[in-house]
Amino acid sequence: MNDKQVTLHAFETDYMKELHHWLNDSVSISMVGRTPLTYEQTVKHVEEKRQDGDLLLAIKNEEKRLIGWVFLQNIELEHGRASIGILLAPEARGQGYGEPAMKQMLDIGFKQLRLNKIYLTTRGVNEQAISLYKKVGFSVEGKLRKHAFFEGEFHDTYIMGILASEWD
Ligand SMILES: CC(C)(COP(=O)(O)OP(=O)(O)OC[C@H]1O[C@@H](n2cnc3c(N)ncnc32)[C@H](O)[C@@H]1OP(=O)(O)O)[C@@H](O)C(=O)NCCC(=O)NCCS
Repeated sequence: MNDKQVTLHAFETDYMKELHHWLNDSVSISMVGRTPLTYEQTVKHVEEKRQDGDLLLAIKNEEKRLIGWVFLQNIELEHGRASIGILLAPEARGQGYGEPAMKQMLDIGFKQLRLNKIYLTTRGVNEQAISLYKKVGFSVEGKLRKHAFFEGEFHDTYIMGILASEWD
């Protein structure tokens, strides 16, 4: 556990400009797999996620500055499962903020939504993300070979998951 502290808040519509900036960062584009989005497309993306019932939370640092978002999507209560996603602002990456943000969202998923499993997919080349996910308790459950195309090549995608029984 590192010494970084974050708090999670409702993702307000006011934060859309920041999200548009984070999503269009070149690292996000290659690691999350998007083409650049206009501001209007970003707004539509968030509206669709809200309509799907995704839980969207803003991440704030110790100074209460907005530094990213974390969300649960594909929430299927009948199966007790959901998938998780996280995106930090470029200036907040590489400092350990991902760990407390992931842990707080996992806690909400397991202890408030009573999920049995939280899973995600990530690109095999995203070593920083994979390292973070393993650190908070995820295991690699499978590999989709040559599943994503970017920068002129096909890359593997990993499926990772954590069960409620593995979360204390
Ligand atoms: C991925 C992301 C959430 C990670 O959060 P973070 O707070 O920046 O992560 P950290 O810098 O604390 O790194 C996590 C761990 O990975 C390690 N790490 C960093 N770069 C690494 C690399 N290239 N190879 C291996 N491990 C690496 C760190 O050392 C750290 O482990 P430690 O705490 O034991 O030292 C964040 O960087 C981000 O939002 N990136 C852009 C979007 C993205 O990739 N989202 C995930 C899509 S699946």
